Amino acid sequence: MSSQPAAATASAPPTAAVLEARSVFRFRTVEDQQVPIVRDVSFALRAGEFATIMGPSGSGKSTLLHLLAGLDLPSSGHVLLDGADLGAGDEEYRARLRRERIGFIFQFFHLLPDLTVEENVTLPLRILGQRPSKHRARVDGLLQLLGVEALRRRLPQSLSGGEMQRVSIARALVTQPALVLADEPTGNLSSKAGEEVVALLRSVCTKLGATILLVTHNPRDAAAGDRVLFLHDGALRPQSELTGGPFRVADVFHRLQELGI
Ligand SMILES: Nc1ncnc2c1ncn2[C@@H]1O[C@H](COP(=O)(O)OP(=O)(O)OP(=O)(O)O)[C@@H](O)[C@H]1O
Ligand SMILES: [Mg+2]
Repeated sequence: MSSQPAAATASAPPTAAVLEARSVFRFRTVEDQQVPIVRDVSFALRAGEFATIMGPSGSGKSTLLHLLAGLDLPSSGHVLLDGADLGAGDEEYRARLRRERIGFIFQFFHLLPDLTVEENVTLPLRILGQRPSKHRARVDGLLQLLGVEALRRRLPQSLSGGEMQRVSIARALVTQPALVLADEPTGNLSSKAGEEVVALLRSVCTKLGATILLVTHNPRDAAAGDRVLFLHDGALRPQSELTGGPFRVADVFHRLQELGI
């Protein structure tokens, strides 16, 4: 976190989007210089969209995702989640919004090793003070949808990478969050397991109406989205966005070539 998480200024006017970034900048101090890591990023995500942000290593994807999740604050600009300005409150306010409205999927899964699959999946409910037994039908449905029902009593260490990621997708969805954020969810998987995980994210989006934003440097993962936004040196190229997906991987490669990324 920055030494100067400069304030997003006055509250932003409301939005109908699930997620909206408005002219977001993030500077970091590198060798005494203020360097823009995220530069003037604006976009909006509608409910039920599966959007991907594609960018090379170091282009600012994780930095942007942290800003969108309220884990970091923009140097200037606004992030609105379900109409709530993440810069309008303190860290406690942002933590509550995150717990209630965002599901996370990470490259390295972050499953708790001493909890069973089922306990990992239901942990976000317990953090919200809800009893998992009250949500049994939904939890069972999620475990089934993600193909991990038979693993529910197992510990994470006994699972394959693909299985761990499917468990972490179930965990991300268990609170029915407004938004699911995924940072390189296939980065630690074999090609085949990665393909399965991305296909599952697509079907989760369709079947549950989840709103998903996935950042990746993998053109195959990006191609699965309804939209692909391209991030280069911390800036989006809105005019180069692909819409109307899912796409052929070749379409994503072609656009990358056009952009010289
Ligand atoms: N705390 C920090 N201080 C200074 N520079 C940072 C800091 N964190 C990240 N950066 C720089 O910001 C740039 C973007 O980093 P970021 O991790 O967001 O990239 P990324 O697109 O997620 O890369 P990757 O695909 O490798 O995960 C990089 O040049 C990185 O070195
Ligand atoms: Mg990253």
